[in-house]
Amino acid sequence: MKIRKAKKSDKGKILSFCQHTFRWGDYIDRVWDKWLAKKNLLAIEQNGKAIGICNAGISQNQVWIEGIRINPDFRRRGYASKLVIASERLAKRKKLGISRMIIADNNKRSLSMAKKLGYHIEDKWWLYNLSPKKQTTSAKIATNHQDLSDLIQSTTFSESWNWFSLDKKILPKLVKQGRIVVYHKNKKPQAMGIWNKTSRLDDDVMQLGYLSGTMPGIRQILHFMQNKGFEERKDRVQLLIQDKIKPKMPGLDRRMLFCLVKKELQDQA
Ligand SMILES: CC(C)(COP(=O)(O)OP(=O)(O)OC[C@H]1O[C@@H](n2cnc3c(N)ncnc32)[C@H](O)[C@@H]1OP(=O)(O)O)[C@@H](O)C(=O)NCCC(=O)NCCS
Repeated sequence: MKIRKAKKSDKGKILSFCQHTFRWGDYIDRVWDKWLAKKNLLAIEQNGKAIGICNAGISQNQVWIEGIRINPDFRRRGYASKLVIASERLAKRKKLGISRMIIADNNKRSLSMAKKLGYHIEDKWWLYNLSPKKQTTSAKIATNHQDLSDLIQSTTFSESWNWFSLDKKILPKLVKQGRIVVYHKNKKPQAMGIWNKTSRLDDDVMQLGYLSGTMPGIRQILHFMQNKGFEERKDRVQLLIQDKIKPKMPGLDRRMLFCLVKKELQDQA
């Protein structure tokens, strides 16, 4: 058994068992080349043949562990756990303090693995779909970050299926990128959303990766997204929303629940 960086020549062997991983299929074929180019795609091999992978997405303070796949003939032998531990080791060498993963709430084996490796559930997030539609809305793209900090009601936000730490420091950057949608009433911000202009996986999908505020304000943000999806001729607006928010609106379809799991890395070096 050996863990090493994935190679171009592993692609066929890995994709051969990553077609029907989940009920809806898999996405590894769509991200393989991008992950390989970033050079943090790990492979585990047995007798010289790659039998599993995992990608370690590096950002400022965390490693985002994703795409853990083990060939069905080699499962339950500790290989996935070894890949996760290798990703954490890589992160510790880079002095990153946090490791996070997103796991579907119904993926009990992965959740059990994460728990065994010392992860805890930080939050639960729902995936919603919203059909693009012409809408009027009073929500707007924020032009400054003042007053928005009260609307930070989560430790993270999602960006193309990666979750990142959300704090006051990141707001000016997101405002500059034109990605904060805000609804004001009596000059006070009532609700905000973080808009990911496209999805990393699909050009036809527009994504909202965070939502908070009053329910009337939230509806204004959702109308904004619906309208943007319509204007930009997207197939679908995908929303990732914390479990506690529970928005309701015509055209809003709740799809799947996910667990965001987290582990602190610093004190374990
Ligand atoms: C989930 C997956 C990565 C686990 O790979 P693996 O190499 O078999 O996992 P490990 O042998 O390291 O298992 C570690 C722990 O996970 C849990 N686990 C793994 N497979 C399990 C199963 N079939 N049933 C119950 N628990 C399971 C157990 O707690 C296990 O510890 P144990 O064997 O000591 O009881 C593998 O089943 C897989 O590729 N699944 C499809 C893709 C997927 O779900 N990826 C994760 C997306 S977040």
